[in-house]
Amino acid sequence: MSLFKLSPHALIAKKGREAICGITAYDFVSARIAESAGVDFILIGDSASMVMLGEEDTYRITMEEMLLFCKAVARGAPNTLRIGDMPFLSYQTSLEKAIENAGRFIKEGRCHGVKIEGGKEVVPLVKRLVSFGIPVLGHIGLTPQKSLELGGLKVQGKDIKTARELLSSAKALERAGCFAIVLECVPSDLAKLITESLKIPTIGIGAGPFTDGQILVFHDVVGLLPGFRPKFVKAYINGFEIIKSAIESYKREVKERTFPTREHSFSINHRILQRLRKK
Ligand code: KIV
Repeated sequence: MSLFKLSPHALIAKKGREAICGITAYDFVSARIAESAGVDFILIGDSASMVMLGEEDTYRITMEEMLLFCKAVARGAPNTLRIGDMPFLSYQTSLEKAIENAGRFIKEGRCHGVKIEGGKEVVPLVKRLVSFGIPVLGHIGLTPQKSLELGGLKVQGKDIKTARELLSSAKALERAGCFAIVLECVPSDLAKLITESLKIPTIGIGAGPFTDGQILVFHDVVGLLPGFRPKFVKAYINGFEIIKSAIESYKREVKERTFPTREHSFSINHRILQRLRKK
């Protein structure tokens, strides 16, 4: 496996040439499936808080939980570029703590970079991490770790002031050394303008078709969570129903005693059985 493919430079090289496809993964199986499908990168997102741990938001997930997911993904997708998402309060309290935690994603989580939510306020941190050789994926627009302050999960950058802020944050993050920037829930034409203003790739989620790449949450792509589905999500299969129906079939066959059959059972030599019976 070439080191280049596992470095964020592989994504930068795709800008203007081919669309970048990212997906989240959190465990061995989802990572293995994502790698087999040939995605360009995997994000071990703090959305794990919701889709893996059943929390309502991303505030509660811890460093230890994130690292556990990262390690599992590294085993499932050893040949795919993997980025670890820094959870709430793992980088906001001090530069030192942030550097230490980012380093843990690389050393213990076997990630090739980290993602950090935020605009200009995280620029000093991005510069420090990049100077120590830790690649950083930026994340602006709707930043779920600020959803309390933002008043919910809303589209960002719809007025001139916030649109300007997003554009200047994107440029500041590029100057600080980010290798790419996630644009979450911003109007398509603003995402286009930001994308055209940067040399590094933009990765959209709810940011329309004009970004350099896209990312979606694994569970959304395969329809594992019934119920509310944001407008920007496309479920390619109804995984929940497909898997549920498999488990229902299994349950029915167990109850009917039609599973297991000989095909799924082991045999013993008849003479041994006879000797056992005689005793
Ligand atoms: O945590 C996550 O899954 C993310 C993506 C939605 C970009 O941050």
